[in-house]
Amino acid sequence: MQFSEFDSRRYRTVDVRTGYSEWAPTYEQTVQDAMDIALLDRLTGPSWSRARRAIDLGCGTGRTAAWLTKRGVASIDGVDLTPEMLATARASGFYANLVEGDVCSTGLEAGAYDLLTACLIDEHLPELGPLYREAWRLGEPDASFVLVTLHPQFIIATGMPTHFTARSGDPVAIATHIHLISDHVEAGTATGWTLAEMREGTVNESWLAVKPKWRRFRGYPVSAAYTWRKPG
Ligand SMILES: C[S@@+](CC[C@H](N)C(=O)[O-])C[C@H]1O[C@@H](n2cnc3c(N)ncnc32)[C@H](O)[C@@H]1O
Repeated sequence: MQFSEFDSRRYRTVDVRTGYSEWAPTYEQTVQDAMDIALLDRLTGPSWSRARRAIDLGCGTGRTAAWLTKRGVASIDGVDLTPEMLATARASGFYANLVEGDVCSTGLEAGAYDLLTACLIDEHLPELGPLYREAWRLGEPDASFVLVTLHPQFIIATGMPTHFTARSGDPVAIATHIHLISDHVEAGTATGWTLAEMREGTVNESWLAVKPKWRRFRGYPVSAAYTWRKPG
């Protein structure tokens, strides 16, 4: 399924590194916590404060690590493709180690992590299998892998790619891919992960308070969170 079939905006589209390098300075002012943090808040597990060592895949500027730190996660590493996003993550002080690299092939130590997160990143990956397999490789037995994603139904219904306002003032899209919920289930289970929990977020009153223009999308599913467990 190609995003281009649904694209209602037709913005100029750039690759991940080009897009996020320009978006980095304003990224945290534009991304709404309702998209991902609100779903993390709703998960009943894993037991965050027991996590010994976490890896945040596609860590961006460190929003997820800020949340994990508040929940008592002891140590967090991060990996991201975009140096400008990593620079903000480094300045945040939430990470023990930060690595510039691809989440599908991080080069990090196998079996070293008991908690893995990947928030708002899979829409930039053409295939899900490599992400689930790399997370599996990095996770120790009993590890939890928490993935938060834009909801495919939202992307399809709105035709809206991930986008930001460039320095020129023009909207610019970052290459976006659509992964159905069944694509996640298939990629996760084929790798060996067991689905422990799933939550979906809809465009509700909190969303409308920050995005009044989205009133026509009221009730649409907008994001989803999966907690996967690696059998021990
Ligand atoms: C929407 S941001 C999400 C950042 C962060 N997880 C958050 O929730 O705020 C997407 C991030 O994924 C990174 N990214 C996209 N594709 C990647 C890949 N293949 N490997 C590593 N990072 C990637 C981008 O550089 C960007 O920082």
